[in-house]
Amino acid sequence: METQTYNYKVVRQFAVMTVIWGIVGMLVGVLIAAQLRWPVLNLDFIGPWFHFGRLRPLHTNAVIFAFGGSALFATSFYVVQRTCNVRLFGGNILPAIVFWGWQLVIVLAAITLPLGFTSSKEYAELEWPIDLLITVVWVVYAIVFFGTIATRKVKHIYVANWFYGAYILAIALLHIVNNIEMPVSLMKSYSVYPGAIDAMVQWWYGHNAVGFFLTAAFLGMMYYFVPKQAGRPIYSYRLSVVHFWALIFTYMWAGPHHLHYTALPDWTQSLGMVLSLVLFAPSWGGMINGIMTLSGAWHKLRTDPILKFLVVSLSFYGMSTFEGPMMSVKSVNALSHYTDWTVGHVHSGALGWVGFVSIGSMYYLIPRLFGRKEMYSVKLMDIHFWIGTIGIVLYISSMWISGVMQGLMWSQLNADGTLTHTFISSVARSMPYYLIRVIGGALYLSGMVIMAYNVFRTISLGKAVDAEIPQLTQAQHH
Ligand code: HEM
Ligand code: HEM
Repeated sequence: METQTYNYKVVRQFAVMTVIWGIVGMLVGVLIAAQLRWPVLNLDFIGPWFHFGRLRPLHTNAVIFAFGGSALFATSFYVVQRTCNVRLFGGNILPAIVFWGWQLVIVLAAITLPLGFTSSKEYAELEWPIDLLITVVWVVYAIVFFGTIATRKVKHIYVANWFYGAYILAIALLHIVNNIEMPVSLMKSYSVYPGAIDAMVQWWYGHNAVGFFLTAAFLGMMYYFVPKQAGRPIYSYRLSVVHFWALIFTYMWAGPHHLHYTALPDWTQSLGMVLSLVLFAPSWGGMINGIMTLSGAWHKLRTDPILKFLVVSLSFYGMSTFEGPMMSVKSVNALSHYTDWTVGHVHSGALGWVGFVSIGSMYYLIPRLFGRKEMYSVKLMDIHFWIGTIGIVLYISSMWISGVMQGLMWSQLNADGTLTHTFISSVARSMPYYLIRVIGGALYLSGMVIMAYNVFRTISLGKAVDAEIPQLTQAQHH
């Protein structure tokens, strides 16, 4: 009977699309990185469509919402069923609406952004008809996820679901509030918020997109796949609950650190700074809980590339959540803001944390979804791990150097108060670092291509299977 198996179909679909959208989004990332090094690649002579200004939001949307989003849909749908011991809520139809609806959103983004349709709000560039579509898909997603929780056969709600649940609610709130806009035509709208309020709402959104999309949800992933792969229970369940509430409370206040020294009231900037410093504690609480889960299983790291991905991802999470609070300090931000340091910070979180935890989780999932014991080649997973790690190190260390250099050059004044360095001279000095970033990005992308090959071979050897739901007599841990 169909109801006795888990719904793995939608998990399989999203898992495969994670790899495909990862390659697409990162390919655009490498292209825009190359455009900064070789401006001729903007292809101005063809038209404006491939210009950096149009492809940059395509990159961010593709990697965050298509790659990251697919990984989150796949894992949340998998984890919520397995930990609730029940098939996904909504029959086969609602999960299918989520999958196809989300693919439609991505395709529409890939068409409209290069054509120049944008609301000009970072990470919320898509125009109002697409915003409405996102809202519908998201509501269906929430119904499937919370419906599954509501119909669960296990009394306890496993902590991973808390993180996924908070992310689903928070993203709904953020998306709707930040995108309240007045349409003037089919593809143009204006935000209803004026001036500084608009900036404040936008960065309340932007920072919580980091906090809930790129962090809380991926912590949900971490809380399932790290204990599973390590074969150990979570280090501390109590810590997971404490850092959950602390994290979701604190993130909401930290947005103004994106707007230091702007027209925002000064006290909001200081408040944002202080709560960003506070955010260090719950962030490291989560990181430590993940890493300590490995105690007693450290030897597995030698031979298990999935664990390598997961542990290194936690290390990057720890690193970027140390760096972030530091950059929130106004005097540090005076140096880092507008420079490549920010971009380096972003990518230690994005490539290191978000990328690696997703990759590790996909390597765990794909064999299970296709009836195989493990991936086609463990050796290729290991090669992926090393190429990816070297790529990240090249990317972020080059951005640290160029960022600090830019910040110092821009703030140096002559005795008469004029700038010591012209802006363009700082651009010229950044070129070697832009080249290193292209190389680092290309390495990371090659790792993804190797992954795609490995996934393809695994799928060809296996066949789609939906695991049976075990009949429980009492609550069990998963
Ligand atoms: C091959 C891998 C990647 C490369 C080469 C790459 C390259 C780039 C480049 C060149 C920029 C523009 C920087 C600028 O404006 O100066 C950028 C921005 C950005 N990328 Fe990536 N990227 C990659 C992967 C990712 C991934 C996987 C994510 C997220 C999960 C991501 C998230 C972002 C974000 C959020 C920004 C905007 C940063 C900001 O506004 O400060 N990138 N990327
Ligand atoms: C405790 C945690 C964190 C804090 C306090 C923090 C703080 C900051 C600060 C101060 C900036 C620079 C703002 C500016 O000068 O414009 C920034 C930028 C950014 N951070 Fe973080 N960060 C944290 C963790 C993370 C993580 C884990 C990620 C990714 C997974 C991330 C992604 C970003 C992005 C995408 C931006 C660039 C936004 C933009 O300008 O477009 N952050 N963060």
